[in-house]
Amino acid sequence: MADIESLLKEKRVFKPSPEFRKQANWNKKDVREFRKSGEKPERFWAKMAKENLDWFTPWKKALEWKAPNAKWFAGGKLNVSYNCVDRHANSWRKNKAAIIWEGEPGDTRVITYGELHREVQQFSNVLKSLGVKKGDRVALYMPMVPELAIAMLACTRIGAPHSIVFGGFSAESLRDRINDAGAKVVVTADGGYRRGEPFALKPMVDEACEATPTIQAIVTVKRTGEPTAMKDGRDVWWHDAMATASAKCPPAKLDAEHPLFILYTSGTTGKPKGILHTTGGYLTHVTTTAKAIFDLKDEDVYWCTADIGWITGHSYVVYGILANGATTVMYEGTPTHPGPDRFWDIIERWGVTIFYTAPTAIRTFIRLGDEHPKGHDLSSLRLLGSVGEPINPEAWIWYNKVIGNRKCPIVDTWWQTETGGIMITPLPGAVDTKPGSATLTFPGVHAAILDEDGNEVKPPDGGLLAITKPWPGMLRGIWGDKKRFKETYWSKWKGTYFPGDGAHRDKDGYFWIMGRIDDVMNISGHRIGTMEVESALVSHDDVAEAAVVGRPDEITGTAIVAFVTPRGGINADEAMKKTLLGHVTKEIGAIAKPKEIRFTDALPKTRSGKIMRRLLRDIAEGKESVGDTTTLEDYSVVAKLRADDD
Ligand code: PRX
Repeated sequence: MADIESLLKEKRVFKPSPEFRKQANWNKKDVREFRKSGEKPERFWAKMAKENLDWFTPWKKALEWKAPNAKWFAGGKLNVSYNCVDRHANSWRKNKAAIIWEGEPGDTRVITYGELHREVQQFSNVLKSLGVKKGDRVALYMPMVPELAIAMLACTRIGAPHSIVFGGFSAESLRDRINDAGAKVVVTADGGYRRGEPFALKPMVDEACEATPTIQAIVTVKRTGEPTAMKDGRDVWWHDAMATASAKCPPAKLDAEHPLFILYTSGTTGKPKGILHTTGGYLTHVTTTAKAIFDLKDEDVYWCTADIGWITGHSYVVYGILANGATTVMYEGTPTHPGPDRFWDIIERWGVTIFYTAPTAIRTFIRLGDEHPKGHDLSSLRLLGSVGEPINPEAWIWYNKVIGNRKCPIVDTWWQTETGGIMITPLPGAVDTKPGSATLTFPGVHAAILDEDGNEVKPPDGGLLAITKPWPGMLRGIWGDKKRFKETYWSKWKGTYFPGDGAHRDKDGYFWIMGRIDDVMNISGHRIGTMEVESALVSHDDVAEAAVVGRPDEITGTAIVAFVTPRGGINADEAMKKTLLGHVTKEIGAIAKPKEIRFTDALPKTRSGKIMRRLLRDIAEGKESVGDTTTLEDYSVVAKLRADDD
């Protein structure tokens, strides 16, 4: 509630400039009209699907909805790679840049739609030659190189759902994801570059594939040229396979509900969920939102800084952007290499016009100092976006002033891996913005603030964010786990989707997202489940028990704090902390490494044995507990933890 109070004090309103409004893809009138038709979501989205995509066969019915199962455009046939590549390669856009890629060492590649067309078809044939058929899963574990986008599009061309595993995840995480999806092939690279150094990926794949019975082949892109072991009969180099592959592969005519990809995300248990997205609805959602929210034009140079390993990269580095025939920038490395101005340098050199990044990055840049952006000509920019976590008003204002020179609208976009595309957002030529608010729902999307019982909460009180009607990009399930799908998202209220975020609305109906209300943390805009980190910690032989909580952090939004009870006879010292950090990195990946580990003889529990995380959260934040502690079994545990804190 304190957060809500402070945000409510934010009274500044920014109107779209007349110049921006005049040229916007969607003006106020369009938005009014679309909102009206969006009252019946299927009416609005069917119009968008027709207008923005090419279909081989029209659908029979725009929406079949029997909660929690939706079918969008069923019976309609289309192909994602055809929509993202062929239709542009067959037009005047043939020699237009589809991908502008920059490697961290400074090497660059510009890939036109014509070239992309050729390479996607070739790689589709490579996949086929490795035995990949329609419906087979392909795991992609790669750095940010163009081959990742090519591999994704090739999968969609032949109807093989991809499962991208972020390159920062460990071999163990990769193995679990490969096995859960039952992937047949892995595409990877020898490595990539980060902070000026090459890092290896292929050895992690080798380690993962020691226990992945479904994997038949591994394709490896040569990126760093570091020595890399290859196993005869299983491993092939990307360039060798491509050299002999034909550049003709007709796109498969796939049903709109054909599985497009699985993307794993953290939940409230130790096991990540394989979020399943399908073809027609998803592509309609991301293509329409990209065009309207980013105001994409043919002249634009669009750059989203997300890694393709996350949903933002899927939807708004690749699919939504290429489907519009736009130019997408892909950058391989860290934002601060070789200097703190790398991003601004990229914007200046390529003439980036639309820039989409995360609040964590913005807060980092604020700390690094204004001289870095100010040392570059950023006048090409015309629109800015934010995603992944709530943006604090101070960061918003800085973004507007220092990066946008007060002339760029900011679109603060709320959505999730599960929603597929943006749900709550300003429309830059039509909606006034307020720093810290994601503003209003996109036309055809319906959200509300509800209490536990499903009653609407009156502004300005806080409650649970709810999506009350189906939308085309919605997840169709959790891979292999119908029960968890129903329980996680559809059991709180009847027929209404529960995203797991707290939020409130102001008197103008604007949404203010307050963050996760479940045991999922948002670290630098990436979701990590507390249970996942806990399971990793307790899997270490020297750990008896562990509890993990998030505490607010100025830069990363949330920082992970772990309370660990070592087994008897184990020295709880710095060396042990180091061992545990290494262990979590090995089990999950470096992004899940706790910022702080605190050793304790015991954890505060209720009489029924449940760990009282709320108390631990207060302790991690150095706050006095105000909540009820009457269910606490042994108060001395808390007293001791607090004493350790001093
Ligand atoms: O808590 C919300 C936060 O990120 C969560 C979704 O995480 P993920 O599936 O990894 O997708 C991130 C990129 C779409 C949400 O439940 N979140 C995302 N965008 C915003 C946000 N919180 C506040 N404002 C946003 N704009």
